[in-house]
Amino acid sequence: MKTIDASIENFFKGKKILIAGGLGFIGSNLAHQCVKMGAEITLYDCMDPHSGGNLFNVKHIKNDLNVYFMDILNFDQLATHIPDKDIIINCAASTSHPFSMREPWIDLDVNSRGVINILEAIRRFNPKVKMVHLGTSTQLGHLRYTPADENHPEFPTDIYSANKSVSEKYVLIYSNAFGLRTSVIRLSNVFGPRASVHSPEFTFNNFFIGLALQKKAITVFGDGLQMRNVIYIDDAVAAILKAVASDKTDGQTFFATGDEHFSVADIATITAEILGGSVDFVQWPKERKAVEIGDAIITNQKAKSILNWSPKWNLRDGLVETRNYFSDCLHEYLR
Ligand SMILES: NC(=O)c1ccc[n+]([C@@H]2O[C@H](COP(=O)([O-])OP(=O)(O)OC[C@H]3O[C@@H](n4cnc5c(N)ncnc54)[C@H](O)[C@@H]3O)[C@@H](O)[C@H]2O)c1
Repeated sequence: MKTIDASIENFFKGKKILIAGGLGFIGSNLAHQCVKMGAEITLYDCMDPHSGGNLFNVKHIKNDLNVYFMDILNFDQLATHIPDKDIIINCAASTSHPFSMREPWIDLDVNSRGVINILEAIRRFNPKVKMVHLGTSTQLGHLRYTPADENHPEFPTDIYSANKSVSEKYVLIYSNAFGLRTSVIRLSNVFGPRASVHSPEFTFNNFFIGLALQKKAITVFGDGLQMRNVIYIDDAVAAILKAVASDKTDGQTFFATGDEHFSVADIATITAEILGGSVDFVQWPKERKAVEIGDAIITNQKAKSILNWSPKWNLRDGLVETRNYFSDCLHEYLR
């Protein structure tokens, strides 16, 4: 990883960290980095069948971890893992936008009630712990101005984004009302090693990567001219860790987004160019068109100035690194 600086490495050495959702894409990449820095890691994950958890994600570090196959919806179980931690990072979520439209109650439970469970367990059993929660740029919905920043109002277009929006508010309320050291990093189209590349249910650019690696056609809905921000996983991990290590983040939200913006069609074309396959343009499925957000152009200026963070990877280099990762383990992600 070319994105972590020495001061951060020292901060994490010996720290006890709970990563909820740690078997998923972002949580497992955090775990790899934290193990490298000498932290003591506990993963808490129920391997939800509708999200991107994958045991292979931690296969090579499994002896350096404590892994609990448990649900954040079980408050009593969760509460036993809170008191002795220095840091809690919440990556646990029901992460499929389409699934949230089919099963809104499940999304409501995990993405809202589950976050209250974590916050309430912290308030009762470890109010000094540092906690970072992950939000999403899709909380904003159709943008009213660009580039959007953290003050942009939120008009989510799907149930997942609505519950991510409300759970972010819980995190901020617990900081403001109870003085907890909680904050939010909002991410957008994170891609790279350990992502769920097998299904269109998750982040679109990782699905494109999966198709390209299988030399299949990437299907772009409509003309694909809507703009998107993408961020390589190591940059996302660095932003989260910098938020954890900072004493200036409590009660605040930050966009950790990439510097580059591309149309969806360009992301597909560049992905096929570097990884293989081809690009097809197809009609919008009705249910996808109904929740489409249009251009997503977001600034990461606040994270740059307060977290002293900036993205180090561009799309092309990130795709090359992603290809290298999946070269001998793609089959582990296509099941
Ligand atoms: N990947 C992205 O591009 C992206 C963008 C914006 C925000 N985020 C946010 O980042 C976080 C992590 O996303 P990800 O991409 O790693 O997703 P992921 O689906 O790969 O990981 C989520 C993990 O949470 C676990 N989980 C689900 N329900 C749970 C429960 N009830 N109890 C315990 N564990 C549970 C799943 O088993 C899975 O391992 C989520 O909050 C997501 O909303 C991700």
